[in-house]
Amino acid sequence: VAELLLANRPDGELPLKGLNVLLTAGPTQEPLDPVRFLTNHSTGKMGYALAEQARDLGAQVTLVSGPVALEAPYGVDTIAVTTAQDMLDVVQSRFADADITIMAAAVGDFRPAEQSQDKIKKNGRSTIELELMSNPDILAWAGKHKRANQMLCGFAMETRDLETNAAKKLASKHCDMLVANNLRTPGAGFATDTNVVTVLTPNMGAERKSPIMEHWEKMGKDVLARRILNRLAAMRAESLYQ
Ligand code: C5P
Repeated sequence: VAELLLANRPDGELPLKGLNVLLTAGPTQEPLDPVRFLTNHSTGKMGYALAEQARDLGAQVTLVSGPVALEAPYGVDTIAVTTAQDMLDVVQSRFADADITIMAAAVGDFRPAEQSQDKIKKNGRSTIELELMSNPDILAWAGKHKRANQMLCGFAMETRDLETNAAKKLASKHCDMLVANNLRTPGAGFATDTNVVTVLTPNMGAERKSPIMEHWEKMGKDVLARRILNRLAAMRAESLYQ
């Protein structure tokens, strides 16, 4: 129904017109000392593609980005952050206004328990122990605090048992959509311009049933971004008519 409603909008009216879209993208960096940090291979490409497409579909876009080599997209309110805690702080301050939130950032699960003020020296040691503590889960926070008409989408990168793990994430983080990609699939994952994903949505009216899973073909991250956004806009429109 909602896809039809959106398709039949008056000429020139874009599907995300008047909506606020909040995005996270890129990696986080967790400092160990003034010169070193823990991070991952995320380039931010998927999140930035989402930002550009959301803007082109008419949304007001806020992009909360970890350190990446990409240029801030034109017309997008881009907020640069470094750590998971910084990213959480910004998301918490913007979340209430967001109609659609998509978290494509590869947030570090752990950070060094202590941050040394000075560079850590070798001091003749052949091993060194590093204590890590867990970072806040930003997506889980958003899932806990979202209102009924706020759409929330997470990403998941798995190296095994993709469907089982993604289904668990969709439910435990209270997402309306979860986009899962397998790091081992050719054309998927970090630093590529394409992605191969399985899209999970809750099986409405069937509590405790497994989610609906769609295997989407390999496509460019920009095309994928547009499809994800169009689907979320349709789901949101449908939720308003219920
Ligand atoms: O549990 P996992 O890290 O695989 O979940 C991935 C999803 O959760 C992504 O959407 C990611 O942006 C989000 N996430 C987050 N904060 C974390 C860890 C993951 O927002 N600390």
